[in-house]
Amino acid sequence: MTTEVTPSNVEELIEKHLADEFGDDNKVRSLSQHFRREGYVKLANLVSRDIFAAVTTEVHEILDNHAKRIDIHMKETGNSPRFMSTVGQAAIRKDAQLIPAIYESPALKAFLSRIATQEVMDCPWEGEKYIIIRQHKVGDTHGWHWGDFPFTVIWIIEAPESEVGGMLQTVPHTDWNKDDPRVTEYLVNNVIKTWPHSTGELYFLRSDTTLHRTIPLSADRTRIILNTCWGGPSTAHLTAQTHETMEAMFD
Ligand SMILES: [Fe+2]
Repeated sequence: MTTEVTPSNVEELIEKHLADEFGDDNKVRSLSQHFRREGYVKLANLVSRDIFAAVTTEVHEILDNHAKRIDIHMKETGNSPRFMSTVGQAAIRKDAQLIPAIYESPALKAFLSRIATQEVMDCPWEGEKYIIIRQHKVGDTHGWHWGDFPFTVIWIIEAPESEVGGMLQTVPHTDWNKDDPRVTEYLVNNVIKTWPHSTGELYFLRSDTTLHRTIPLSADRTRIILNTCWGGPSTAHLTAQTHETMEAMFD
């Protein structure tokens, strides 16, 4: 049976789902250890199928109305490429019902805080709270980069089979110096891990200290994600920070 998900019942649904799915403290501790070790953990069942399906519908509607194509290289991340279509936070805020409500969910933030072993708090910068990215052409990629904020959940709205690209790659415990990003040096001196994902899965990324990218698509296939991002104690004092890479990519 499917439950209709609305902005007014979503908090209750999230809370119940998390209590059912993650009642075992040992399981949560092991997910948390994976997150802290790798800067990444797959949380395939972070939300219920009903919530994921409702968000998927919302993401497709917003993409249809707002997607903007970019093909750029970012000097702040060693000239790595961004070949993709994007929708920024303002358009989502304007047109979405569920995504902002889920973003603000106290139950979701409390659970992510257990995994992070730090308080997960609202992002101090509106523009980075939630964004949508679609890749669909050969060569489309979100090249090597870090985020400005620490805690990101990626919703895999649609993913091609891993053989054609789109997989996440990570180098955890690295620092972003925007004036001298030294991306190649990090890739040479560290182990790069590769993580496949299927449509309907979610993952949690320590986005500020995990250098990451998606493998370029080797065929004209579609990969769509919703990126939801939170701050933490280390970013609580921030009000105005530079966001060059975000401003180049999103309206
Ligand atoms: Fe990212």
